[in-house]
Amino acid sequence: MSAMTLTQKLRRTAEHVRERVPLQPQIAIILGSGLSPVADALAQDGELAYADLPHFPVTGVAGHRGRLLLGSMAGTPVAVFEGRVHSYEGRAMEEVAYSTYLAKQLGARTLIVTNAAGSINAAFAAGDIMLIRDHINLLGTNPLVGALDDDLGGRFVAMRNAYDAGLRDLARRVARQNGFTVKEGVYAATSGPMYETDAEIRMLAILGADVVGMSTVPEVIAARRCAMRVLGISVIANQTTASGASDEVALTHAEVLRVVTSSADRVKRLILGVSGSIAA
Ligand code: HPA
Repeated sequence: MSAMTLTQKLRRTAEHVRERVPLQPQIAIILGSGLSPVADALAQDGELAYADLPHFPVTGVAGHRGRLLLGSMAGTPVAVFEGRVHSYEGRAMEEVAYSTYLAKQLGARTLIVTNAAGSINAAFAAGDIMLIRDHINLLGTNPLVGALDDDLGGRFVAMRNAYDAGLRDLARRVARQNGFTVKEGVYAATSGPMYETDAEIRMLAILGADVVGMSTVPEVIAARRCAMRVLGISVIANQTTASGASDEVALTHAEVLRVVTSSADRVKRLILGVSGSIAA
């Protein structure tokens, strides 16, 4: 008996989801740490616990609920993945990318991916929202490494302009209409789960990173592999400017969750506005 391929697993998961909630999402939204309140904007058709989905990887990180919600946001059908698995949980990249591939399998053409991040750029303060313009992958791996025994896309994936400029323009406009501004910049992904040393923060600044986090990049690579449009949103949980870092109180996950949750309402309005205006 041979093991199931990724495509076979995804078909099985998608079939399970469709049997329970027959809605074809146009947009998939992955909610990062502390961003569960964004799901309040959903007119819900149904919800499924990750643990009940065949083959779906379950997360155990605080602040990540672990359920798939289907419904509509501002009239657009969406799938909301409330919580994600990270590579620091010791999970294979295929598992980290599973929600993105499932979104594609369900019919979604756009991925909105969110995260909590620490700012490297001194102009970014805790609580700020940043649209991701580009990323630097420092994870040491990615979801394209390995067998790729599926039909989701090719092996060699172009990553220039991975973050859709049109979606960023739209998000900036939505923010303005809602009376707040958003920053824009480069997200560097490290494996974590430890936070950075002062020397690492200085290195990240030299490399051109504006923020640093522990997620998002695998999902974006997977999304580009299957030709989904991507909007990436970081919430600045803490400032890690190299010069000031040594004076800071030690950063904790609880503090990250507190700050991000206090920005969740703006993220919610941003995603609601983008969802309502997105072209099919
Ligand atoms: N570093 C890495 N990941 C993070 C941080 C940070 O400072 N804050 C929130 N996620």
